[in-house]
Amino acid sequence: MLRPSYPIRTERLVLRPCRGADLEPMHAYKSRAEVCRYLPYEPMSREVVAARLAGDWSRTELTEPGQALNLAVEHAETGRLLGDVVLFWRSAADAAGEIGYVFAPEAAGHGYATEAARALLELAFNGLGLHRVFAQLDARNDASAAVLERLGMRREGVLHQDTWFKGEWSDTLLYALLAEEFG
Ligand SMILES: CC(C)(COP(=O)(O)OP(=O)(O)OC[C@H]1O[C@@H](n2cnc3c(N)ncnc32)[C@H](O)[C@@H]1OP(=O)(O)O)[C@@H](O)C(=O)NCCC(=O)NCCS
Repeated sequence: MLRPSYPIRTERLVLRPCRGADLEPMHAYKSRAEVCRYLPYEPMSREVVAARLAGDWSRTELTEPGQALNLAVEHAETGRLLGDVVLFWRSAADAAGEIGYVFAPEAAGHGYATEAARALLELAFNGLGLHRVFAQLDARNDASAAVLERLGMRREGVLHQDTWFKGEWSDTLLYALLAEEFG
């Protein structure tokens, strides 16, 4: 069970549950082809983003495995929405979770994704009490791999052509970190 007290603050960011008012800024980046290039979905319409915000993205806590907690990431100083992060509770028996993140291209190059993902790891390990957190990404997604390396996550392997992805076979990289390795 994970019931964070919001907002979650880091040095430069605020993480909080998504809300209806995130529609415009969130649609602005989730509708862009370059943002979705290595994500397992196509650019999203305004209607799809609105439906997700009203549905599963509005979750504020994790009460059972299989659920995902999506959090909006704001720039603390300006309140501008920079991106969003997600923590999937994958298994109770294995105490396992998965993280993901998507940021607006305008927010790139400042370490915001790394800072927000670190806060997510904190929630995963110290909040939910997970033993292992992993991340999976298209092997061509260098920017995402760099985030995981900065977090100190271990590159555990490459799954060769395991995914039929947007019209071609693609390789998946697996990164992971154990609770005892999270400093
Ligand atoms: C993956 C993604 C979030 C990475 O964004 P990013 O801006 O490269 O990552 P960060 O926010 O951690 O910023 C890192 C950059 O900021 C720089 N930086 C500046 N100040 C920094 C600081 N205080 N701390 C860390 N890095 C800092 C780093 O040097 C790095 O620069 P570089 O790209 O020139 O090497 C972004 O590319 C994205 O949203 N992509 C589309 C969605 C996606 O693919 N998600 C992942 C699916 S698996």
